[in-house]
Amino acid sequence: MKYITVIMSSLKMTLTAFMFVFFLSATGQDTAEETSSESGSGQEEVIPGADLAKGEELFKSICASCHKRYEKAIGPALHGLTERREMEWIYKWIKNNKKLRESGDQQAIAIYEEYNKTAMPAYPQLSNQDIDNIVAYAEQPKPEPKQKVAAAPQGGQAGGQKGSGMSTEVILGILAFVLLMLSVVLYLVNRTLNRFAEANGVPVKQEEDKEPRKPIWVAFAENQFLVVITVVVVLLGVAYGAYGFLMQVGVDQGYEPVQPIHYSHRIHAGENKIECKYCHSSARVSKHSGIPSLNVCMNCHKQVNEVAEETATAQYSKEFYDKEIQKLYEATGWNPDEMAYTDEKKPVKWVRIHNLPDLAYFNHSQHVTVANIECQKCHGPVEEMEIMYQHSSLTMGWCINCHRETQVNVKDNGYYKKIHEELSKKYNVDKVTAAQMGGIECGKCHY
Ligand code: HEC
Ligand code: HEC
Ligand code: HEC
Ligand code: HEC
Ligand code: HEC
Ligand code: HEC
Repeated sequence: MKYITVIMSSLKMTLTAFMFVFFLSATGQDTAEETSSESGSGQEEVIPGADLAKGEELFKSICASCHKRYEKAIGPALHGLTERREMEWIYKWIKNNKKLRESGDQQAIAIYEEYNKTAMPAYPQLSNQDIDNIVAYAEQPKPEPKQKVAAAPQGGQAGGQKGSGMSTEVILGILAFVLLMLSVVLYLVNRTLNRFAEANGVPVKQEEDKEPRKPIWVAFAENQFLVVITVVVVLLGVAYGAYGFLMQVGVDQGYEPVQPIHYSHRIHAGENKIECKYCHSSARVSKHSGIPSLNVCMNCHKQVNEVAEETATAQYSKEFYDKEIQKLYEATGWNPDEMAYTDEKKPVKWVRIHNLPDLAYFNHSQHVTVANIECQKCHGPVEEMEIMYQHSSLTMGWCINCHRETQVNVKDNGYYKKIHEELSKKYNVDKVTAAQMGGIECGKCHY
């Protein structure tokens, strides 16, 4: 009976361990759900009948490049707006602030002066309902400093942040522990059963009773078939590895150098929705896309000298980002206290990431303007990149594959229409790809 108790108690131990894991992951899930429903019910009805989701969408797509909710940016913080202004005034201001100023409205003139006469655009297309929605969104109370999980933006408000509140490491640790327990238990059970059997007179094979076995390598060497197979497999493996190594020489996919200023495309192109061409203006018209000069940065950064609390992530704190903006000031010789340039400049040298060898010719405007291909098709999800990296391989095979697959854009293009008709006859197809237009002729890409 003693053995039975041992088995039972071991089983109990394993079960407890399992329960422990499930309990933990279950509570993790509960808290996650709790917070999201909490932020749902914690919403304040500032303006009756306003749709917060629509407001958020409008705010982020039109206003967020200049306004933050809780802090001054290029324009004033919009939170608390209803306390300082009448709704009627807000409608008029947003629809056409110039007209409002010209009507002699003192409040409008004062705020315009306060912001160094930076004019805000007019939005006559917005209805009063749209404006209600935006204002209601801006008036939502500031979320509690969230637990920072990775780079997840706006955890609480999105309400979509599900998943267990426990980190994977902890779960893996517990699982490893459980597996260890399990093997200990199995060992104990095995030993107990052996003893039990012996006690009942059943013979149990001991290690020593077994006839001596041949060492494994002797057995292996004697089996010619196995030897041949192994040699073939090893040779194939080496060849494959060598081929792979040679093919990736000179391919810098994923290249992510450290830049002199930590400049985040996620924050600029993503969260603040600044268009690519605002900075990379030559992509449309010339071979090169180019990196913007620091003057372009200063269009905004004369005003923006810090990031919002909400912009910080687990990896990068607000202090970190603010220091990076200081570097921009040092580079351009801007003195933010006096709002003036000094003569001390320290030019910034960005590290070039994408770089084709000289033997190849690539032209941005041909692809961006003529072929109408989105930047992201070749450069990946730039608006999510905290640090810029090379997304595509940029090999010849990559260029050619796309030329074979992509149909030429012939719409509204008289020149192409004609060629298109001739080529369609030649290839007897409806649609013409870049390849059939000559996009795989060596001379097109090689000087
Ligand atoms: C290009 C930048 C820019 C954009 C985009 C912008 N604003 Fe403004 N906004 C400003 C500036 C700058 C001011 C300060 C007044 C001034 O200089 O004209 C301002 C002022 C305001 C004010 C007055 C604030 C106060 O305290 O009285 C409101 C309200 C406002 N903006 C709402 C909006 C809304 C809503 C949107 C989106 C539909 C928007 N703004 C888009 C730049 C912008
Ligand atoms: C506010 C200015 C700004 C905006 C907006 C912007 N970029 Fe950039 N971009 C930069 C700067 C500065 C660099 C150089 C620093 C770096 O590599 O991070 C850069 C680098 C790049 C590079 C790598 C260049 C190289 O060295 O090979 C690519 C590709 C790129 N941007 C694509 C985009 C795309 C696509 C968008 C729009 C989704 C965009 N950028 C929006 C400023 C901007
Ligand atoms: C159209 C306006 C605009 C332009 C142009 C712009 N920025 Fe910014 N930048 C912002 C705003 C707004 C923030 C703060 C974002 C926040 O708080 O969420 C910011 C934040 C930053 C930060 C801190 C976050 C980070 O990315 O590390 C740095 C550094 C920065 N900008 C550098 C630059 C540089 C360098 C350029 C020029 C290549 C540039 N900015 C051009 C608007 C702009
Ligand atoms: C068809 C693919 C493709 C598209 C679409 C594309 N790029 Fe590029 N981009 C490249 C290649 C290839 C290079 C490397 C060019 C070189 O080294 O000559 C590059 C280089 C760059 C660079 C580095 C500087 C330079 O000009 O060499 C920037 C910045 C850049 N791209 C931004 C953009 C932006 C912004 C867009 C969208 C407006 C865009 N790219 C669209 C393929 C593309
Ligand atoms: C995402 C798809 C795509 C990728 C990747 C791409 N291209 Fe293209 N490319 C096109 C399309 C589509 C056209 C046809 C544009 C037009 O309408 O003339 C084109 C046209 C061209 C042309 C002009 C061909 C002609 O007939 O005049 C050259 C040169 C070229 N690409 C070079 C390159 C090089 C070099 C690379 C790689 C570094 C590359 N492309 C990568 C889609 C792509
Ligand atoms: C669509 C554009 C394109 C066409 C068409 C093209 N190439 Fe290339 N080729 C490239 C690019 C881009 C590279 C550079 C790739 C790299 O750096 O990995 C390259 C590289 C090469 C290289 C050097 C390889 C190396 O590892 O340095 C040779 C050789 C070459 N191409 C020959 C040809 C020949 C021959 C043809 C005609 C059958 C041709 N290419 C057609 C884009 C093209």
